[in-house]
Amino acid sequence: MSTDPVAEFFDPRTLADPYGYYESRRTEGPVLDVSTPDKATYLVIGAEAIREILAQPGIFSSRPVGAQGVNLYPRAEALLKEKGFGRTPQLIVMDPPRHTAFRGVLGKVLRDKRFHQMRPQIRAVASSLIDDFALAGRCEFTRDYAWKLSVLVIADLLGVQRGRIDEFKRWSDAWVKPLLQPLTEQEMFDCVTQIAELQHFLVGELAARRESPRDDLLTDIAHATFDLGSGEVPLRQHEQLGLCELLIVAGNDTTANALSLGMLRLVERPDIADRIRGGGRLIERFAEESLRYEGAVQNNFRTLTQDTEFHGVRMRQGALVLLSWSAANRDPDVYPDPQAFDIDRASVRTHLGFGGGIHTCAGAALARQELVESYDLLLNRLRNLRFDAGFTQPDLVRMGGLVSHGLARLPIRFDVASKSNCAIDPSVQNQ
Ligand code: HEM
Repeated sequence: MSTDPVAEFFDPRTLADPYGYYESRRTEGPVLDVSTPDKATYLVIGAEAIREILAQPGIFSSRPVGAQGVNLYPRAEALLKEKGFGRTPQLIVMDPPRHTAFRGVLGKVLRDKRFHQMRPQIRAVASSLIDDFALAGRCEFTRDYAWKLSVLVIADLLGVQRGRIDEFKRWSDAWVKPLLQPLTEQEMFDCVTQIAELQHFLVGELAARRESPRDDLLTDIAHATFDLGSGEVPLRQHEQLGLCELLIVAGNDTTANALSLGMLRLVERPDIADRIRGGGRLIERFAEESLRYEGAVQNNFRTLTQDTEFHGVRMRQGALVLLSWSAANRDPDVYPDPQAFDIDRASVRTHLGFGGGIHTCAGAALARQELVESYDLLLNRLRNLRFDAGFTQPDLVRMGGLVSHGLARLPIRFDVASKSNCAIDPSVQNQ
C-alpha cells in the first residue's frame, strides 16, 4: 500500500477495511487533511469533533458541491426529464430552513405509530424469506435475505401491492445502483429508464391515494402539507416523489448491508449467537454493537460555507468535510477497547451509525426493528451458522466506497431448528 497517507486513505483496500488506517493516524488529532490535487478534503475521525460539526449545520452544510452526490451524466439527466419527472428534491442534501420544513413532513408521516405497526409485517416477511431457503440448509445471505427483506419492508410501508413487488425491487435497485459503483453512460441510461418507470408508478399510486385514501405511507405523503414560511401548503408532485424516492433509497442498501454485517458477526461468534438466542434485550444490544463495530454507512459529506479553524486545522470555504461515522465508532475516548466486539459495553447505544444532529437517520426506529426481528427469527430457526463449504474469511469482499459499506456475498450453511423449538412460538419463548 502507498506510503502517502492521502493516497492510502482513498485506496479501495483502505475503504474496504479502514480501521487500521484510523488507528495509525489517531495521534494526529480528530481532523485529518486528505486533500487531493483537485479538492481540499478533511476527514473527521473523532466522535466529539463530529458532534461539534453536527451542531453547526450553517457552517458545515449538507448541500453538495461539484461532482459530489450522484453524478448522472448530462444526457442521462436529460433522459430522466424526458421519460420521467427529472431529479427530485432530496432532504439529505438540504440545509435549514428548507431541511426543517421537509424533515417536519417526514416526521409527521413516519410517526412512531406507523413504524410500530410494521413489526408484525417485518416478522411475516422475514419468516417467509427464511422458509424459502431453510430446507436447503444454505443460502447466499445478502441476496436471499438481506436485500429482499429491506426492499419488501419499504414496499409494505409505502403500501405497494404485493403483485408489484418484483417490479418495485427492480426499480429501487436501479435507484441505488449509481450510488454504489461508477457506471458507464449506457448503464446509467438503463438505470434512468427504470427510475423513470418508478416515478410514473409512484405518481399513479399517489394520485390513486388522493382519490381514495388508504392506511399507508403513500396516502400520508399524498396528503402531506408543509410550511416554508408563508403558511401551510400541500407538497407539490416532485416533492412528494422526492420523499418517496428518498425512503426507498435510504432504507434499502443501508439496512441490507447492516443485516449482512450482523449475520457475519453471528457466523464469526457462535458463542454470542448462542448467548443472545431468544433473549430480547441481548438481541437489541447485539444489533447496536454490530452497528458500532462495522456500520453500513462509513462517511457522509459536508461542505464548508466559510473559512474555519477547527481543532487546529485551517479549512477553506468550499472544502469537503467527511464525517467518518466508522472512525468515530472506534474512538477510544468513547469506547474502551474499541476493536473488541462487546455487546456488554456500557455505551452500546451511543454510536454514530445512524449519524446525528438535524440529519440523523429518519428511519432508525424502523431499521432497528428490522435488525432485531431478523436476528431473533434467524437465530431461532437456524442453528450452527457457518460459512458455506469452500468459503473462508479471506473470501469476504467488502463493497461500497466512501459512503456505503457492505458485503458483496455471504454464503452460509446452517442446521434447521425444528419449528417447535422456535421462540416465535410464545409458548416456548424462554426454553
Ligand atoms: C441500518 C440501516 C440504516 C443506517 C445505517 C442508516 C444510516 C443513516 C445515516 C448515517 C444518515 C445520516 C446522513 C447524514 O448525516 O448526512 C441517515 C439519514 C437518513 N436515513 Fe438512514 N440509515 C438506515 C436505515 C434507514 C431506513 C430504513 C430509512 C427509511 C425508512 C432511512 C431513512 C433516512 C433518511 C430519510 C435520512 C435523511 C435524514 C435527513 O437528511 O434529515 N434510513 N441514515
